[in-house]
Amino acid sequence: MTQASTTRSAADTSRPVLATAGTPAAGEPRGWWRDAVIYQVYPRSFADANGDGMGDLPGIRSRLPHLRDLGVDAVWLSPFYASPQADAGYDVADYRAVDPMFGTLLDADALIRDAHALGLRIIVDLVPNHSSDQHEWFQRALREGPGSPLRDRYHFRPGRGTDGELPPNDWESIFGGPAWTRTENPDGTPGEWYLHLFAPEQPDFNWDSPAVADEFRSILRFWLDMGVDGFRVDVAHGLVKAPGLPDLGTHDQLKLLGNDVMPFFDQDGVHEIYRAWRKILDEYPGERILVAEAWTPTVERTANYVRPDEMHQAFNFQYLSTYWDAAGLREVIDASLDAMRPVGAPTTWVLSNHDVTRHATRFGNPPGGTQLRTPGDRELGLRRARAATLLMLALPGSAYLYQGEELGLPDVTDLPDEVRQDPSFFRASGQDGFRDGCRVPIPWSGDAAPYGFGPVAQGPSWLPQPAEWAALSVEAQTGDPNSTLELYRSALAIRRQRPELGAGDRVQWLDAPAGVLMFRRGDFVCTVNTTGQPVELMVPGTLLLSSVEDRQPGVLPADSTSWWAV
Ligand code: NOJ
Repeated sequence: MTQASTTRSAADTSRPVLATAGTPAAGEPRGWWRDAVIYQVYPRSFADANGDGMGDLPGIRSRLPHLRDLGVDAVWLSPFYASPQADAGYDVADYRAVDPMFGTLLDADALIRDAHALGLRIIVDLVPNHSSDQHEWFQRALREGPGSPLRDRYHFRPGRGTDGELPPNDWESIFGGPAWTRTENPDGTPGEWYLHLFAPEQPDFNWDSPAVADEFRSILRFWLDMGVDGFRVDVAHGLVKAPGLPDLGTHDQLKLLGNDVMPFFDQDGVHEIYRAWRKILDEYPGERILVAEAWTPTVERTANYVRPDEMHQAFNFQYLSTYWDAAGLREVIDASLDAMRPVGAPTTWVLSNHDVTRHATRFGNPPGGTQLRTPGDRELGLRRARAATLLMLALPGSAYLYQGEELGLPDVTDLPDEVRQDPSFFRASGQDGFRDGCRVPIPWSGDAAPYGFGPVAQGPSWLPQPAEWAALSVEAQTGDPNSTLELYRSALAIRRQRPELGAGDRVQWLDAPAGVLMFRRGDFVCTVNTTGQPVELMVPGTLLLSSVEDRQPGVLPADSTSWWAV
């Protein structure tokens, strides 16, 4: 039995209906986001209502009760805007329109209203670093040629070399290859180059242009008026580039990311932008939030994004990048809490998202980064993943879940090359490009693909689902007390009943043997054994929840986490 004395589910716990503008119901405490559990929906792969093999907004809407029953507080939706999908929607052609593959603005409105009626908040993705190359501004800039005022909204530059045949500087794209692509002039001659830190289909905006700043303030208001509760800001660290776009003077720049300050990332000028945005959000009723996707060299620099007049939260990628190891985990937990405390922002915790190998697969492999192509030891990976999740959900602050992790899904590491769509897979030398493995549509029910993802007999899902996923569906796991789904439901129900789990900004570490973490939060204790061996340890208290079934008194099972009331 995995669950101990818990009575589930979160649905049992009364949850206030939210006004459509996201306003907290009377009596609801302020600062909902400080300890919120936020569930990431990847729209392509969550639920497909129209049977075209691609997830959509009506599909998400139909599955909101699953998220309410799971017990999360908010849903973050990856981009569903009008887009040619060169980077799965992170290339936006129209920031105020829903892509027809996902539905319509009316569907978005209905989704926001339904979520609020279920007590769930909605956070949408905002992509301000770059647009699609099909965006009207970029297309006009190309058509009008050098000198067009529209070119000032992006980074167009003449090339170097005698005929401008060399890129304007040595910057490399995150997805591989140069970060510049040469244009053709309206008369067919080779023209200027434009900057794209990601795919060539994603030209970077020039944030020194007042038109760009005005446009994004207007886009924020558009979605706030639609009733969204916040924005996850894509590449929040990238908007401002160092003056003069200086060379880096080195190759393999991807390896420097996250370690060094780069002329295109984490420039101090970005903070002015977020101060202006914060003022806009604060004009709206309810507590609307900004969440930074900011890759910075240190947690201290990440804290700059969540100073009191800037954003509310920032993803903790240092935590996501930490392997299953007590010493490393303790270090990153302390460093994260210490970094956020001075700015008064909650720390966030995350183990999986749409850009990294799922943690059930990472932890079944030896330490090796966040882009893996080997399945590793599946059983061990899942065992550690369940333990890692219970650790994360016992830490103070806000936690992010990625769709399907509540089912214990592994990465699909054997997708054939012909079905892959990650743009970085096709560009040598950039990110490894295995992000499709965590983006496979999730299984809801039934014995055969598409496992309730969409209507049967309408063709396959956009990425094929593995045969063994029948056993992992929501239907198959519901009611099985040992399933990963029920573990998540129980954990989130306990977190709701015991607000001390997410509250505050400290953990009280207790003495524990090597490889074991033990900490106290009020009358709650969490024990984590990251070793592959059982460890003798008597915890004075009542077991609330454990990540494993094989338990005996006075022993912490290998690779497990337990929650105790003391
Ligand atoms: C971060 C997003 O999470 C990722 O999926 C995307 O490819 C890049 N930003 C570029 O927008």
